[in-house]
Amino acid sequence: MKPIQVGLLGIGVVGSGTFNVLQRNQEEIKRRAGRGIEITMVADLNVARAQELVGPGVTVVNDARAVIANPDIDIVIELIGGYGIAKTLVLEAIAAGKHVVTANKALLAVHGTEIFAAASAKGVMVAFEAAVAGGIPIIKALREGLTANRIQWIAGIINGTTNFILSEMRDKGLDFAVVLKEAQRLGYAEADPTFDIEGVDAAHKATLMSAIAFGIPVQFDKAYIEGITKLGAADIKYAEQLGYRIKLLGITKRRFGNAAQGTSDGIELRVHPCLVPAKRLIANVEGAMNAVVVNGDAVGNTLYYGKGAGSEPTASAVIADLVDITRLESADPLHRVPHLAFQPNAMSDLAVLPMSEVVTSYYLRLRVADETGVLAKVTGILAESGISIDAVLQREADEVAGNSGVPQTDVIILTHDCQEAKMNTAIVHMQALPSVLEPITRIRKEELA
Ligand code: HSE
Repeated sequence: MKPIQVGLLGIGVVGSGTFNVLQRNQEEIKRRAGRGIEITMVADLNVARAQELVGPGVTVVNDARAVIANPDIDIVIELIGGYGIAKTLVLEAIAAGKHVVTANKALLAVHGTEIFAAASAKGVMVAFEAAVAGGIPIIKALREGLTANRIQWIAGIINGTTNFILSEMRDKGLDFAVVLKEAQRLGYAEADPTFDIEGVDAAHKATLMSAIAFGIPVQFDKAYIEGITKLGAADIKYAEQLGYRIKLLGITKRRFGNAAQGTSDGIELRVHPCLVPAKRLIANVEGAMNAVVVNGDAVGNTLYYGKGAGSEPTASAVIADLVDITRLESADPLHRVPHLAFQPNAMSDLAVLPMSEVVTSYYLRLRVADETGVLAKVTGILAESGISIDAVLQREADEVAGNSGVPQTDVIILTHDCQEAKMNTAIVHMQALPSVLEPITRIRKEELA
């Protein structure tokens, strides 16, 4: 059978990795796919550099549309990124009857519903293993390996840049801004790291996992997103003393409502810094590595760990998609694995819950004047709000507050689960106490048991 022909849009770090791994392992890949897979055409704005990377046997153009228009191309790999021209080209490739492989989480998290519908109508596949956690085959695991399960929750370290920064903050006892500068100097963080440090990149990935896990449409606009920019070295240190590590987690959970507590059924979808017990494997994932824990009702907890970015790790995921498409190309489109794991006519309309309805536990740090009755007032507010305390840590008093002559101290409180709305109200009341001297730090906590 003639090899399947692939057109590549954008040959940067991941594109060149894909080309190299495909060449290096071509014999083995052919034995697995049942057919050769060849990149025969590349579009890149820097034609000379691209031609140098792929050699004279591959056609290189600067116009992506020339690849899409080529009738010999069976699969288009989109590695341009972003929601702009990438969206137009993906939709044009689908309209031209090409299968699409993409690593573009932003595009699918925001426009996935439109793109998957267009692909289903045209009978082509859109594969995106590389869009979540780079080389870790988490999409395959969720969509196929765990298909027997009712997925209960997923929690993942799905952004390597922020995990690297948090690891450095913990190791060296430094604050966020100092470590970010160093990470940029060393090339671990982008010159504009906004999407990474503000949690947006992780939210794109969590949105995709949520859709596949629960059979709901992709709903990036409903995700709660909080990055790591406000984390201080002190909180990392206190968390450690209490037996926790702080990680930026992408979390999605199936939530069963409880009428007595005023909660409803729904899906939680959130990205924020999170205390995780130090004894959990995921708490020990350091540096730029990624890891995802998936809890299914039959299998229990499963953990997936590996490189979430980089040339060949991401190429590993792109090529896995190429092989999948090659194997399924001649299958009836209705018998292929659905894009979002569930049949398109069997999607759930379970709502993504607003953050105020999320139920979780909390770490609170209050900078207070160390005077009689402060702790009683703070714990009194929590009790009135129906929030149960799990642990309290009070540091020795240190400096003196302003001109008051009263020493200051940090009070750290861990709570049991409560609804976010209750915690919001309690924080407003605690903040209003004259003895609370600085904005209260609130970090959510997950036991992941
Ligand atoms: N910027 C991402 C990260 C890699 O730091 O993990 C690509 O998703």
